[in-house]
Amino acid sequence: MRSDIGVGLIGTGFMGRCHAIAFRTAAAVFPLTIVPRMEAVADVNLSAAEEVAHRFGFARATADWRDLLDDPSVGVVAITSPNVLHKEMALAALEAGKHVYCEKPMALSLADAREMAAAAEASGVVHMVGYNYVANPAVIFARKLIDEGVLGKIIHFRCVNDEDYMADPSVPYSWRCRRDTAGSGTLADLGGHAVSLALYLAGPIASVSARVSTVIAERPVLDGESLTRSGPPNAASAVTRTAKVENEDQAVALLQFENGALGSLSSSRVAWGRKNYLAFEINGTKGTLIFDQERLNELRLFEAGAIGDDRNGFRTVPMGPEHEPYGMFLPAKGHQIGFNDKKAIEVARLMRAIAGEIHPYPSFHDGLAVESVIEAIERSAAEGRWIEPGTLAG
Ligand SMILES: NC(=O)c1ccc[n+]([C@@H]2O[C@H](COP(=O)([O-])OP(=O)(O)OC[C@H]3O[C@@H](n4cnc5c(N)ncnc54)[C@H](O)[C@@H]3O)[C@@H](O)[C@H]2O)c1
Repeated sequence: MRSDIGVGLIGTGFMGRCHAIAFRTAAAVFPLTIVPRMEAVADVNLSAAEEVAHRFGFARATADWRDLLDDPSVGVVAITSPNVLHKEMALAALEAGKHVYCEKPMALSLADAREMAAAAEASGVVHMVGYNYVANPAVIFARKLIDEGVLGKIIHFRCVNDEDYMADPSVPYSWRCRRDTAGSGTLADLGGHAVSLALYLAGPIASVSARVSTVIAERPVLDGESLTRSGPPNAASAVTRTAKVENEDQAVALLQFENGALGSLSSSRVAWGRKNYLAFEINGTKGTLIFDQERLNELRLFEAGAIGDDRNGFRTVPMGPEHEPYGMFLPAKGHQIGFNDKKAIEVARLMRAIAGEIHPYPSFHDGLAVESVIEAIERSAAEGRWIEPGTLAG
């Protein structure tokens, strides 16, 4: 028996549209017992909400996100607003008894993330955070290879997540530059994805030692632009002043995993040429695994002693129907799934969790674990010493 659940989407920017696509795709592609129904979309920009409602088939649009909470036909709330609003919106949605699917980072601070995880636990509803890279079939397969012992004991995990969207000093000041609206900088935006992969693939992180820096200290302020406005700047906006960037452009961290493995992580939002360079390499006692998000449909695997040394080397393993859930999208290798498919896999997990078929992953608890590592990296950089995330998570 199939039933459905009303979706209330908050935000219609980059992620809002990705969520809308993902809800539609998941409903069509996966054999769900509870199917998302496009019920309502909220955005402070009402015309943007109306346009997304029209385009994606939501029944209603509103400028007030609280309308979704009062609406009994909305069962799950998807939060894709800027970081500063996540906590208030998630807590209110939990209070209203809605399932909550919140974009990362969970909140601006570890304390806020902890409060959200506690409220989620007490609520009894399903909660998930949008650390979507762990939903990639290639990453799921990497975890399977690790669990099966193909790599032997994991001894080293290194991960990088770089983009260049703020490499140009003329990129204007925005909510992403402010502590009170974004929290940390590249760590909140990109580094958290690297941490989510580290935790999923190599396990809990015992200790970190880090450095951060802000490369472009000041950015131009466009007069007349709202800090939460989506899309490119208005061409008519004039630059009359600059404002100080309050968070880091780049970060590096050494990692000590609880299982004894060493690791490193780096993240930059000012790395020219990098568009979504999220890559990891895992060394084990029996082999090595390499992944690069810009080639997200493949893994590179080296297995020691698999064949004679004269012919052995890295093999490129293309994802295909054998690697779940790639086959829900395509019956053949080489045709490739993309970012939005990964988001649909995340939504399918959300729906299956709401149906009670699986545990949600990443839940708010998993999100809290990511936030505690980010906080440890920031504290380590500030205090110049190793910090143990476990002592911060609470
Ligand atoms: N999972 C990922 O891979 C990924 C990728 C990009 C962004 N994100 C996260 O998604 C969130 C949004 O980022 P984005 O790039 O989509 O930003 P964006 O600026 O493109 O979109 C934000 C949207 O929120 C709306 N908004 C602002 N205030 C609001 C309010 N009070 N009520 C309702 N709507 C409001 C804006 O009008 C806009 O439509 C961020 O937290 C970001 O970290 C996640």
